[in-house]
Parts: sequence; C-alpha cells; structure tokens
Amino acid sequence: MPTPTVSEILRSPALGETVAVKGWVRSFRSNRFLALNDGSCQASIQCVVDFDAHPEALLRRITTGASVSIHGELTASQGSGQAVEISVKHLEVLGDCPTDSYPLQPKRHSLEFLRDIAHLRMRTNTFGAVMRVRHAASFAVHEFFNKEGFFYLNTPIITASDAEGAGELFRVTTLPADGAPKTETGATDFSQDFFEKPTNLTVSGQLEGELGAMGLGKIYTFGPTFRAENSNTTRHLSEFWMIEPEMAFHDLSDNMDLAEKFCKHIIQSVLERCKEDLAFLDQRFEQEEKAKPQQQRSEQGLIEKLQFVLDNPFVRCTYTEAIDILKNSKPNKKGQFKYPIESWGADLQSEHERYLVEKHFKSPVILFDYPAKIKAFYMRLNEDGQTVRAMDVLFPGIGEMVGGSQREERHDVLVEKMRAVGIDPSHLDWYLDTRKFGTCVHSGFGLGFERMVQFVTGMGNIRDVIPFPRTPGNAEF
Ligand code: 4AD
Ligand code: MG
Repeated sequence: MPTPTVSEILRSPALGETVAVKGWVRSFRSNRFLALNDGSCQASIQCVVDFDAHPEALLRRITTGASVSIHGELTASQGSGQAVEISVKHLEVLGDCPTDSYPLQPKRHSLEFLRDIAHLRMRTNTFGAVMRVRHAASFAVHEFFNKEGFFYLNTPIITASDAEGAGELFRVTTLPADGAPKTETGATDFSQDFFEKPTNLTVSGQLEGELGAMGLGKIYTFGPTFRAENSNTTRHLSEFWMIEPEMAFHDLSDNMDLAEKFCKHIIQSVLERCKEDLAFLDQRFEQEEKAKPQQQRSEQGLIEKLQFVLDNPFVRCTYTEAIDILKNSKPNKKGQFKYPIESWGADLQSEHERYLVEKHFKSPVILFDYPAKIKAFYMRLNEDGQTVRAMDVLFPGIGEMVGGSQREERHDVLVEKMRAVGIDPSHLDWYLDTRKFGTCVHSGFGLGFERMVQFVTGMGNIRDVIPFPRTPGNAEF
C-alpha cells in the first residue's frame, strides 16, 4: 500500500499518530538522527532511531542513499530545525547503498559534476527544487491557455518542413548510413526512404499550429523541439520544449499583450505554489551572485526579481529605436561589444539584447518591427516594405524568452517572400492554402520553456533545468 509522502505528513502533521513513510536516507548522524527525503518536497523529515532497540548490523546499512521504510510515532521535535519528527518503532532497509561507490555525499557538489550523473541528480536539493518548479510551470502553461479559451493542439514531431528556414535540422531516416540508394545524379534517393521524402525532427510546430488556428480560432502547442545548431551556450539546447500559441483575428499588438500576460501568469503561479523551493533557490542564487565580480552581480534577489517582473509593464520598443539606443550606448562607443552596432539592419546579438534589458530599460522589453531581412519568411510585411511585424520578448539574465509575429496573411506576398529566401512554394502548398481559403489576420509566438524555468529558478545554465539535456556531443542517459 502506498505510504503518505513526506510533504503530506508535514503539511498536516497528526501528532501522536503512527505514520509509515518510505524514502531515501539523506544523512544519518550519531547512529540516531536519520534525515529522510522522498522527493515530494524540499524538506526531509527527521526520524529518530533508538540505537539500543535496533541491531548493529541494521544500523550499519542506514547509509546516505539507501531506501528505507519507516514506521513510528509523529511527535513534536525537541531539536531545532524542524517542528515534528518521527520516533522510529520499526525500520527496514529496502535497498542498500554502498557508501564507497555512491557519488552523492551529504555536501555541496558542483553542477558540472552532477550533470555527469544526471540519473542521480534528482536526489539533490537543487534538482529536486528545479524539477518541482518545472512541473508547476508546466501546469501553469496548460492552466493559462485553458482559462483563455485555447485548445491544446499536438503538432507532429516528424515533419518534412523547416518552419524557421534556418536549416538546423536533425534528419529522420531509415535509409542505411552506409550505401544509401542514389538517384541518377548521385544524390541520396529519398523516394526510397520510409516517408518517400526527406524528413526531419521539428524545429517548431508553428506552421501546423497556424492550420489549427485557422479552424479552431485559438490553439497552443507544448512539445519538444529539435535544433541542430552548434551553439554551446548557457541558453541553448539541441532538444528543448516550446510553447506556441496561435490565434486567428489577433494582430501584433494583441500578440504582445498575450505574451506579457502569459509570462506573468507562469511567474505568478510559481511564486504562489512553490514557496518552499523558491526560498531555497533564492538563497542559492544569492550565494552564486556573491561569487561573481561586483559589476556582474544581479541587483535583485531571485524572488525580488520575479516580483519586479510581475509588478511592472514590459517596455515596448521598436527595433529602430533600439538600434538608436545601442548605437549611442557607452559599450558601443567604447568598442566593448563583440559585434559593434554600426547601422540599421544589424542582427541583434545576445550582448545587445542584454544591454537593453539589464542596463538601459532595467525591465523585460518587447522589441518589435524588425527588418524583414533578419526574420523568418512567414512574418507580416509592414507598409514600409522594409520591416516585419515581428516581436521578441527579452528578459533580464536570459535575453530572448519569446519570439513571435503577426503572420503574412496575403497569399501573393507570402509566395513572393518564400521565393526570395529560396523556399519552393509547392513544398508548402498546404500552408499556402490557408491564405487561399478564408485567410485572416493572425498571430502567434513561441516561448522557450527551459528559458522560463531558468528565469524562475535563477539557474545559470539551461542544462540544469531539463532532466536529461541534449547538447552538441551529449546524448547520455
Ligand atoms: O525565436 P524562435 O526560433 O521562434 C520560433 O520557433 C517561432 N516558430 C515561434 C512562433 O512564432 N510560433 O524560438 C522561440 C523561442 C525563443 O525565443 C527561445 O526562447 C526558444 O524558443 N529557443 C530555444 N531554447 C532553448 N534552446 C534553443 N536552442 C532554442 N532556440 C530557441
Ligand atoms: Mg527568435
């Protein structure tokens, strides 16, 4: 029979009653104080073992990492640090844990070390907290869209299209790696492949999401996304989770409003539901910041930062205004940017985005109306013929959190834009059909889920907010 979790016991402690609980030993001090953690919450429950009442051989098996089953009386704790404890009547070791080879010791381990033992890191305070917050954030995503009248649409993981046109695709094939069949011209003959055409893992569910919105009105996707870009940064994964809402009859301004409301809802829910874990992460964040040089330190604590984002409207600023700010900025004039901003049309790098957010505006910023040249083909061309109705939501410490746009709904303009970037319109005839049969103004965006989890947990590296990170050269576990 399942026993109650530590979280349940601590939430409504029935003093004087016998409780049964199972979990893993975090520490065992003085042959008497056993800290038991079962992952249900940050706190461990203290179990007091009367060493006279248990055989020596059993006590020796109570080591860090062992799984145990405990029966005992829940009593008010004499010691400091916890309100209640279990006075152990019966203890059974369910799974021994050899101390000499168990990698997790009751001390602080580096995040790099823990990444190498990703199968065990869920047992640490930090990853326990991050994974519980991740769960709360994902719950908040569905809650938000459900409340706003959106439908959850599952778009394909295997696809023949490259929605972003960036060519960062993982090929999906059943053709042999050696000796794939060739066409007369010597190219790989994909007509003999499983789907009889080249296919890849999706880089975005947007194009299919648009088809959903053009019938259901408001949809969102929430699924894994794959990009074979060779970026070894603290903000990039090769496999990440993206949320992509798409709305018929919404223009760019409606899109910005929704993105802001959505970001705030996730942050608000996590603040409300994960108090204990956030308190832990807040302290952790403070320690990490202290270790940094003064100029790089965050001016706010983690919880303070989350509250600040909730309490203030996101700044809205056109790309053109942003370029002016950047051109005249100190780091640009002093040659401190790796990519100096010289003229309108430059693609913004993360150093520029972070300058705008962290130094200039000191708040999340929505940049919009970007040059068409640096954005994807599907974005709505403005009347100036130069800019598109694109928007990026930039966050302090993160950079780009959200990328989205109003879509080009005019059939002929869209075909022209495809041709201009070398996409054969016949390959996307199903997409173009939405512009033929009852087209309308519509918009959407994509939010990188791990970047949001990074923001709300204050973790510095994106690899530490996903259970099993995939990055160039890493596909362990
Ligand atoms: O800006 P992106 O590439 O936009 C799209 O894919 C659009 N189709 C979205 C849409 O309009 N429906 O990606 C969206 C977001 C980024 O803002 C970023 O937060 C995240 O996805 N992202 C990544 N997160 C982790 N690792 C990567 N390699 C990421 N690439 C993008
Ligand atoms: Mg983007």
